[in-house]
Amino acid sequence: MATDEAAHVAWRVRTLSPSFSRASSSSLDTALVEEFARLERRIFPKHESLSSSFSQEVKKRNQTMLYVLIGDVVKGEGDTEETADPAKVAGYLMYSWTSLAASITKLAVRETCRKQGYGEALIDAAVQQIRDRRLQCVNLHVDPARSAAVALYKKKGFYVETTIKSYYAADRDAYRMVLQLISPENQ
Ligand SMILES: CC(C)(COP(=O)(O)OP(=O)(O)OC[C@H]1O[C@@H](n2cnc3c(N)ncnc32)[C@H](O)[C@@H]1OP(=O)(O)O)[C@@H](O)C(=O)NCCC(=O)NCCS
Repeated sequence: MATDEAAHVAWRVRTLSPSFSRASSSSLDTALVEEFARLERRIFPKHESLSSSFSQEVKKRNQTMLYVLIGDVVKGEGDTEETADPAKVAGYLMYSWTSLAASITKLAVRETCRKQGYGEALIDAAVQQIRDRRLQCVNLHVDPARSAAVALYKKKGFYVETTIKSYYAADRDAYRMVLQLISPENQ
């Protein structure tokens, strides 16, 4: 758990309950997904945004949603009270997987929360879960103009495998980036 400057306030990466896909999903989970969609609408241009289909996307099988809430409250040693306020979403990451590989399909951090380590913590948590599934690699697509994201992925060990011309639009290419977890010869 990461600790902010006040010793009693901390945050951690959480995983959206897999039961969100069932009709009985909690009102907190529903409110969280609405907040992800609101951030998505604000951060990404329309053609890149999942906002209108967010609740459908997170219900898909083999899809995991991670998120961070600002200021989970820690009252004392072993006595943790967590916030349940969706307005406190600092960022989210979505990934999907097959039997061999995982893909990070979304990553965003609220504008006012950037450069505080949330993006890196979301990637670390996703990569750990993907390692635990014993998958070979993680891949993603990113617009080379998104320099903060490209720098973050490189810091976490991803490399540019190829550039895909006109991936997002006629004049917008994509890097396909890969993080190798298990070398194929060790399979
Ligand atoms: C990319 C993004 C998720 C980074 O989140 P963040 O929480 O600000 O990142 P962190 O604070 O964890 O930064 C970790 C590393 O990322 C890189 N980084 C983050 N912001 C950066 C910036 N503005 N410029 C250059 N490098 C940056 C640095 O390597 C940084 O490590 P450092 O602090 O040791 O220098 C965030 O800027 C964002 O949401 N951008 C808009 C959406 C987007 O582009 N998503 C990716 C789509 S594929």
